[in-house]
Amino acid sequence: MIGVLVTGGVGFVGSFLCERLLEDGHRVICVDNLQTGSLRNIGHLLYNPRFEFRPSDVELPLSGIDNIQRIYNLACPASPAHYQADPVRTMRTNVLGAINVLELAARSGARVLQASTSEVYGDPEVHPQREDYRGCVSLSGPRACYDEGKRAAETLCHDYARQYGVDIRVARIFNTYGPRMAADDGRVVSNFIVQALRGEALTVYGDGSQTRSFCFVSDLVDGLVRLMEAPCYMARPCNLGNPQERTILELAERIITMTGSASRIERRPLPQDDPTRRRPDITLATRELGWAPVVDIVEGLGRTIAYFDERLRERRALSETLANLVRPEKVGIIGDADEFAALTAIRAQPPAARATNVVRLETRV
Ligand SMILES: NC(=O)c1ccc[n+]([C@@H]2O[C@H](COP(=O)([O-])OP(=O)(O)OC[C@H]3O[C@@H](n4cnc5c(N)ncnc54)[C@H](O)[C@@H]3O)[C@@H](O)[C@H]2O)c1
Repeated sequence: MIGVLVTGGVGFVGSFLCERLLEDGHRVICVDNLQTGSLRNIGHLLYNPRFEFRPSDVELPLSGIDNIQRIYNLACPASPAHYQADPVRTMRTNVLGAINVLELAARSGARVLQASTSEVYGDPEVHPQREDYRGCVSLSGPRACYDEGKRAAETLCHDYARQYGVDIRVARIFNTYGPRMAADDGRVVSNFIVQALRGEALTVYGDGSQTRSFCFVSDLVDGLVRLMEAPCYMARPCNLGNPQERTILELAERIITMTGSASRIERRPLPQDDPTRRRPDITLATRELGWAPVVDIVEGLGRTIAYFDERLRERRALSETLANLVRPEKVGIIGDADEFAALTAIRAQPPAARATNVVRLETRV
């Protein structure tokens, strides 16, 4: 058993990573400020004595964390909607977060894996993207806070390795999908699935001919763990993603078919700096880590659709329950994590009080 710190462990990828590390028998400390992560993702881990959740921000020094041998630095909103909402904060999270993580690693001797991204390649001129490609990134566009923030975090990793001997790994993660993605964060897979399940039009930006490659989350988590445990020469960046390239239009049509939805496709203008092609070259990961994705798109989408279907049903049931518990005019809109708190609070009240207390309820999904 080793001690592992996962920053951003309440998020989509981080929660699966925490789960995997616990299954492997490790002790896991999860640091997260709940900016985009939902407590629902780690609810089932909270009773595990080897799991500890510390609500905190990686912009602050990581103190009081002892006896850890590994740090996975995942803290950062990953969807454009979230990271563009407060770009200065996104840059701070990336830069100060990396510094605080690397300082802790320098003090403790822990090995660090930095969750970088295919966005460091920007709108690439070479295809597929190999790790030695330096990228074509706008440093002033709306995506720059994330892309350049992640590039700066990579630079910091290499500088801490050279200057202080910190043992680093850098994973360049390509589009990953699966259960526990936030339904409202604008990422293409969750967007399309929720729209299809609700019978709404699927919003395709541009003509839909732009490509992405989609990796199922369990494959990614396996790659992250392999990379972390790989020999030290893997300090160079390593792509992790599914090399099967698909157009966005093809993805939309597949999801409509798989959900049996009557939804149509609606075209919208392409956002600024949206990359036209994305596909990882995973030769390095395959050769050095023995890693390649194993979950195909039909299986992965099937599991993801089942997850969102259940979430939407839960929401409908919840709305009905609440309509019986509180006066409708007292129901407002708040964030996802607060919805749990609101429900718990309502259930804890004696029935007589329920109808009179003010309750604000989330109805986002
Ligand atoms: N999912 C993908 O397709 C993808 C692709 C490339 C890179 N990545 C990287 O992987 C990591 C995880 O992505 P995800 O998809 O799980 O995103 P996510 O938004 O679901 O998770 C990010 C987590 O980090 C937390 N967080 C954000 N800022 C923080 C801060 N300052 N301090 C502490 N916690 C903070 C959020 O609350 C959330 O729980 C991110 O670093 C992301 O950049 C993801």
